[in-house]
Amino acid sequence: MCGIVGYVGEPKEKQAKKIIIEGLKRLEYRGYDSAGIALYVDGVFETRKHVGGLENLEKIIGDEKFNSHIGLGHTRWATHGAPSDANAHPHSNEDNTVTIVHNGIIENYLELKEVLAEKHGVKFKSETDSEVIAHLIGINYEKEGDFLKAVHRTVDMMRGAYALVAVCSHEPDKIIGVRKDAPMIAGIGKGCNFIASDIPAFLKYVREVLIIENNETVIVTKDDITILGSDRKPVSRETMHISWDVDAAEKGGYEHFMLKEIHEQPEGIRETLTKRIREDGMINLDGISMTKEDIDGFNKVYIVACGTAYHAGLVGKHAIEKMARIPVEVDVASEFRYRDPFVDEKTLFIAISQSGETLDTLAALREAKKKGARVFSVVNVVGSSVARESDDVLYTWAGPEIAVASTKAYTTQLICMYLIALFMGKVRGTIDEKYYNEILSELKAMPEKMKTLLAQEDKIAKVAKKFHRKENVFFIGRGPDCGVAYEGSLKLKEISYINSFAIAAGELKHGTIALMEQDTLVIALDTQDCLFEKMLSNIVETKARGAYVIAVAKEGHRDIEVEADYVIYIPDCRDEVSPILSVVPLQVFAYYVAKERGCNIDKPKNLAKSVTVE
Ligand code: AGP
Ligand code: GLU
Repeated sequence: MCGIVGYVGEPKEKQAKKIIIEGLKRLEYRGYDSAGIALYVDGVFETRKHVGGLENLEKIIGDEKFNSHIGLGHTRWATHGAPSDANAHPHSNEDNTVTIVHNGIIENYLELKEVLAEKHGVKFKSETDSEVIAHLIGINYEKEGDFLKAVHRTVDMMRGAYALVAVCSHEPDKIIGVRKDAPMIAGIGKGCNFIASDIPAFLKYVREVLIIENNETVIVTKDDITILGSDRKPVSRETMHISWDVDAAEKGGYEHFMLKEIHEQPEGIRETLTKRIREDGMINLDGISMTKEDIDGFNKVYIVACGTAYHAGLVGKHAIEKMARIPVEVDVASEFRYRDPFVDEKTLFIAISQSGETLDTLAALREAKKKGARVFSVVNVVGSSVARESDDVLYTWAGPEIAVASTKAYTTQLICMYLIALFMGKVRGTIDEKYYNEILSELKAMPEKMKTLLAQEDKIAKVAKKFHRKENVFFIGRGPDCGVAYEGSLKLKEISYINSFAIAAGELKHGTIALMEQDTLVIALDTQDCLFEKMLSNIVETKARGAYVIAVAKEGHRDIEVEADYVIYIPDCRDEVSPILSVVPLQVFAYYVAKERGCNIDKPKNLAKSVTVE
């Protein structure tokens, strides 16, 4: 999620405001919707925060004497509560003795909020999950009389992912951080020390870094950095010397944001999935108010989106039709809105959008709403227009996606498609317990399977470089693989500018195969057991015309090597969920072809990350 910077230095040198704002600026590349800072001034930690960019925060800080030797800063990527001044971090408890910033999601915040309101009469100032942490530490401080113990008591009450950093006016010369499933590092300065969510935040000042591992606590003072293990006993940690320049550091050491985001997919899938599976194994689609009666009442689903999001819809169609047994039509938003579609109150309209600001998708959503449809959206940016105008929203917790070419948003959109399909199938009684549990366990296994698959990066890079001069590339597939073929083709064309296109494999013989000639490159997706032989015939068909075929198949289907020239295997999985994995080799392939061609991978020509025009 987003950015944290903490600094503590010599009391006489009031450097905190400058250093923290600088640090937040170094984290801007990650995308955020609001920012804030807290500084220790005249015995209290005073907070300033504002929705929008850092320039808004700087305006309200101005050059007032608001400065200090210790403080925290935060850039927020909203997950709970739309972007606003009140929802921006830092958050404090009611008597302002505890101030915190937080990256991640507190899953059980509603329960904690209830206890705080009912038992302690807490009045909340924001809609966020994070605010509960400040109140809990304050209450636990009253019990423990010790800041560190109060923090530990608090995190023991929390479930979810967090990089939590806190300060306390009772013990104002220390910063305490606790890490669980969200990055946290500490920087070793001279007469000062740092804590942050990412290295660029303080790279200007320090290059010796301590990585805080999962379930560890770090206590930062101007002279010391102490790390406590998950057993809360001190651990020693080798410092890491950072030789990256700032630009490389922003990409976490990857050369491009796109490659960084390809590798962030296992985490994005885990974030998007696990928060929605209750301990009893049931799917809990937070933010969804559709009743069983609503779901039983739908007689049609439209999935409407653009680009990559549309391709996620193509896969979603197969999942929803198979699991919920309801007809699904998938359409590009720019077409949907002008064809007077059959939409009424029995229609479920699903909009998919990473940015939530794509004008075509927003306009299509408005059209469907006007015609009485129930509007449900799958969106990555909290509080975006598509999210705000929907009846229900399921967020893809992929985190900010910076590269124009969408990767982690796509695979988390697929996760949301499967969750919706399973949820509706369960409610409509069209799938049994056994099937439901099988698919759910397949989805839970995806992050690890994807990591295994990403370990083939070098191998895929090698084959990609061989074909970087190709001017035409065909992507073919059947069933859900066809939707993935469309996505693979878009990835290649939008970052390498190669003329690639996708076609249903069975459609080749109806004209397009006339384009096949010696050494035409064909990328064939053959991961559907039920269509494996059919796809094999299509591969033979293209080979007979001289094509060179790179196939993507499941491990164990070695017989494909008889026909294909090169095979990339994905870990075995059920047909229904294979798109989550089969798209990854295509993303990596496109990346390395574009890299070999010297293209501007993160910002391809003519493209924008969010197309807010017709
Ligand atoms: C995909 O790589 C492109 N960036 C583009 O097709 C994108 O998917 C499309 O513009 C839709 O954007 P959205 O998901 O933000 O609505
Ligand atoms: N869940 C918190 C919020 O919505 C933190 C979001 C973030 O990681 O920036 O405020």
